[in-house]
Amino acid sequence: MDISCNKASGIFTIEFNRPDKKNAITAAMYQALADALNEAEGDPSVRAILIAGKPQIFTAGNDLEDFLKNPPKGTDSPVARFMAALSGASKPVVAAVSGAAVGIGTTLLLHCDLVYAADNAKFSLPFTQLGLCPEFASSMLLARIAGHQRAAEKLMLGEPFLAEEAREMGLVNKVVPLDQLITFATAQAAKLAALPASSIRATKRLMKADQSEAIEARMADEMKHFGQMLAAPEAKEAFTAFFEKRKPDFSKFS
Ligand code: COA
Repeated sequence: MDISCNKASGIFTIEFNRPDKKNAITAAMYQALADALNEAEGDPSVRAILIAGKPQIFTAGNDLEDFLKNPPKGTDSPVARFMAALSGASKPVVAAVSGAAVGIGTTLLLHCDLVYAADNAKFSLPFTQLGLCPEFASSMLLARIAGHQRAAEKLMLGEPFLAEEAREMGLVNKVVPLDQLITFATAQAAKLAALPASSIRATKRLMKADQSEAIEARMADEMKHFGQMLAAPEAKEAFTAFFEKRKPDFSKFS
């Protein structure tokens, strides 16, 4: 299974498990992620959700080949279902990030509650480099936590940034040594699971109350642009260049 799930002591752990392709996420994997989150949401014995990758890779983001073959179409696409389930989760979500977290791998963290990074974590939002634009409210949420200029640097240049910078920006709660990451993140999730579930749910709902509508509206706006840009020649050039292992040439597009 490219997405593996495990439930223990009130913690529902969801793990990216496709290391040979750097945990790149296909439509089928997005559906599995959405199903896993919905299962966790509906299971009263689940009190916290933990999202993790592999020690050397969190996720390389969208599977670029699958993305071209099965471009997401609107709010009913698997990726949109996954992100709606994550953004709307009533239970606390903890992320444990090690290695690269590319594209949606970083975007999804903006919808988590606690984010822990290993010292080898590397974040990137390379949408402009792929001829695309931000997705799933990252154009709003990153600026809210980091300020416009820092968010603009990450979203416009799309260059990777390291764990310590992510912590300074407010994207990450704490940076820990790689060999301690899962133990530490699981212990934090266990603390949440031991607290009264109704208090945690109410706290999360109240903290997000003033954002929910704005997040939904921004997601819809971004999705419209993203869908159009995915079908445009700039994205085709960027994706082709990745698989041909060369630099893309955007000079012919105005
Ligand atoms: N989609 C599809 N396949 C991907 C992928 C992706 N997003 N990311 C990696 N892969 C595949 C590679 O094609 C390669 O497959 P192969 O062994 O059949 O040739 C394999 O995974 C290993 O990737 P590689 O690039 O050799 O690993 P690396 O350690 O040198 O680099 C990354 C890791 C994550 C930095 C690099 O793979 C990368 O930049 N991936 C693309 C990220 C991206 O643009 N994501 C989309 C965001 S919207």
